[in-house]
Amino acid sequence: MSIHIGAEQGDIAESVLLPGDPLRARFVAETFLEGATCYNEVRGMYGYTGTWRGKRVSVQGTGMGIPSHLIYVHELLADFGVKRAIRIGSCGALQPDIHLNDIVVAMSASTDSHINSRRFNGADFGACPDYALFRAFCGAAEARGVPFHAGNVLSSDIFYDDDPESWKLWANFGVLAVEMETNGLYTEAARFEAQALSILTVSDSLVARRSMSAAERERSFRTMIELALEVATGEVSHTN
Ligand code: HPA
Repeated sequence: MSIHIGAEQGDIAESVLLPGDPLRARFVAETFLEGATCYNEVRGMYGYTGTWRGKRVSVQGTGMGIPSHLIYVHELLADFGVKRAIRIGSCGALQPDIHLNDIVVAMSASTDSHINSRRFNGADFGACPDYALFRAFCGAAEARGVPFHAGNVLSSDIFYDDDPESWKLWANFGVLAVEMETNGLYTEAARFEAQALSILTVSDSLVARRSMSAAERERSFRTMIELALEVATGEVSHTN
């Protein structure tokens, strides 16, 4: 047991999918995993372990924003020996050629959060994914003919910004999309020498001012979830 995860040692697989929404964790377990059992209900932040194509895998909700995400990621890596953490989330497009439903994979994560500037004494940490997982994702997506965008994302602390134009600064520097967790995930994984990757589906566009319906969201998230399960359970070596 850790403070926020009521699992026993061995209950959680070495590879874990990380949706922000705990109900999406339940959806993944019920829809995609075989023999899934729930190992955590603390705070309603569900976690499940089952198998996918015979390989053991877990899925753990993390909540929204870097502080909540870091609590779960830290406990998974520090207390439960998790080695591979793959975020499956939503994001808002910041570029005109990125549309609703598109998949974005984060090659790096910028942030307006001050968590890392505190952690690194005012300096910046270049938060990036595990290269082998990134390559595995690209291979899996290409094999299925699923197009994707790869690049920098913004992990923001602020969903409701007082300045509705603030995203344009990041867009001008080529940032693809905004979400709220990846910078924390990549930093924590580096600290614990774990592999991490963040795969996102575009649920809204700040450029086009459009959002997906709940039904559209569920359909498109399936592709991302299947790709994430393939990467999570694949034979991927540690490259660094
Ligand atoms: N902002 C921040 N996080 C998000 C967004 C957004 O527009 N869409 C999905 N996650």
